[in-house]
Amino acid sequence: MKIGIFDSGVGGLTVLKAIRERYKNVDIVYLGDTARVPYGIRSKDTVIRYSLECANFLKEKGIDLLVVACNTASAYALERLKTEMNFPVFGVIEPGVREALRRTKNKRIGIIGTSATVKSGVYQELLKKEGAYVLSKACPLFVPLVEEGLIGGDITRKVIEHYLKDFKGKIDTLILGCTHYPLLKKEIENFLKDVEVIDSSEAISKSLSGYVKDEGNSTLELFFTDFSQNLDFLVNLILGKTLDIKLAEGVFAI
Ligand code: DGL
Repeated sequence: MKIGIFDSGVGGLTVLKAIRERYKNVDIVYLGDTARVPYGIRSKDTVIRYSLECANFLKEKGIDLLVVACNTASAYALERLKTEMNFPVFGVIEPGVREALRRTKNKRIGIIGTSATVKSGVYQELLKKEGAYVLSKACPLFVPLVEEGLIGGDITRKVIEHYLKDFKGKIDTLILGCTHYPLLKKEIENFLKDVEVIDSSEAISKSLSGYVKDEGNSTLELFFTDFSQNLDFLVNLILGKTLDIKLAEGVFAI
């Protein structure tokens, strides 16, 4: 079975990692849209257009199933992708929400993500439908911090405090609604203390179990729309090893 995964950039490799850890035999093709990252500041129409182009690129690679690793793309483009693709399409939002509802004890749940994801209200709506009290916050500086490799240390702790101080004592569960945030999970847990922190990359990989046949040759192909600075460093930071990366051919116009 061949699984396609796309993200606005490298952050979705956290999802790839979680999927590979659980399904060791499947073939995986990953596309990171590094030429057009970030999606988190863009309009809905633009995110939909970019997402369709990424999905069509992976479709050409003969995938059987698509995972939208990007939370922003999951928030804005999932329904459209489901309608237009002829294979199953999964986003990261519903699995994260289900996992949060399973683990919360008092239904007081926080959600953090890009400005676009938080503005879309998709997480909040799904949680509120289940009777949860929801606190949300866009944390735009977390993405560049991770991309600089600053996943610990004073600066990172200060930024975490800046964004999350208002959550302290008000929630018992926090959803990391952005591909990059799992890399900050330990520091976020240390800051919030006694809060269940939900990594949506783990949640999506778990939720695929009914759909994935763990059969194949365990191949892994990594495509990016630009060989941007820090790419090798970030692949190594997230996956723990350096891998062969290829340039995605096709039209990925701004
Ligand atoms: N991949 C994006 C997300 O999960 C974060 C980076 C971006 O803004 O494109 O929302």
